[in-house]
Amino acid sequence: SEAVAGGVLGPVGRDRTVAVVGTGTMGQGIAQVALVAGHPVRLYDSAPGRAEEAVAALTARLDRLVEKGRLDATAREAAVGRLYAAQDLGELADAALVVEAIVELLPVKQQLFADLEKVVGDDTVLATNTSSLSVTAIAGGLRLPGRFVGLHFFNPAPLLPLVEVVSGFATEPDVATRAYETVKGWGKTPVRCADTPGFIVNRVARPFYAEALRVFEEGAADPATIDAALRECGGFKMGPFELTDLIGQDVNEAVTRSVWESFHQDPKFTPSLAQRRLVESGRLGRKTGQGWFSYAEGAERPEP
Ligand code: NAI
Repeated sequence: SEAVAGGVLGPVGRDRTVAVVGTGTMGQGIAQVALVAGHPVRLYDSAPGRAEEAVAALTARLDRLVEKGRLDATAREAAVGRLYAAQDLGELADAALVVEAIVELLPVKQQLFADLEKVVGDDTVLATNTSSLSVTAIAGGLRLPGRFVGLHFFNPAPLLPLVEVVSGFATEPDVATRAYETVKGWGKTPVRCADTPGFIVNRVARPFYAEALRVFEEGAADPATIDAALRECGGFKMGPFELTDLIGQDVNEAVTRSVWESFHQDPKFTPSLAQRRLVESGRLGRKTGQGWFSYAEGAERPEP
């Protein structure tokens, strides 16, 4: 019904519902983007009360945008009116696009999409925000794997423009195009790529972290010095140590591990023992107040 001349589907219309499953960090960010773009948005999370919390958090974020003059009060009212916390997956039945941002575990994601396929229409586009799992593998058990695509947003999703639109082995080109056009219409800067471990950004960034960790492990320089050198001379906004403190050492290590495993333990991607120690001791970065650097309350800048 939405096919246009030439058979290529256009972007998902603004009047069509976008569902976001998993309303943590990424789900909330993606929901905000779709909501501000004008879609009715339905949120679902398996943890009781989490979707309602996300509605409250998103409403507060919209209020801040109004305070800052980046959203007018009428648009805010309308957006809040389009936001809905679903109690079960069945309430997502009329979604034209479902974006999944749940826990990064293959069997859990596969189960979710198997359940979703029982409730949504055959023309609903199903998307995953996975950063390190195979899009092809997540879609493996689907009845209609052609409508499945990766939509990899970066954190914080409302601020960072890049979205990797990832085609799995079975993804129909029209579906990838439709996903691409949709996020472009949301003001994002999508890029298309095929499904390989780490896609583009997470793969190319691996040596940035890995070599910095090796320089540190060999005793050549401390984290603050390596960060400073890469900021000053490398033109990076953040050095690898402060950046992984922001991402979370556990999250960063898990992505490295996943890329390493996917390439049959290619030594190029070997995870770092120094980073392992940090993760084991709970020094996960900003979120725990300590990683490579300390983020004690009131500290002007992180202390090594
Ligand atoms: P999070 O832990 O903040 O949120 C995950 C949410 O999913 C939680 O609210 C949890 O209750 C819910 N959930 C878990 N299992 C569920 C299920 N079976 N059905 C429905 N809800 C379920 O996680 P975060 O950081 O938002 O990550 C979500 C996804 O996005 C992961 O696949 C992750 O790899 C990916 N991602 C994360 C980025 C980041 O920087 N945090 C960046 C890009 C992608």
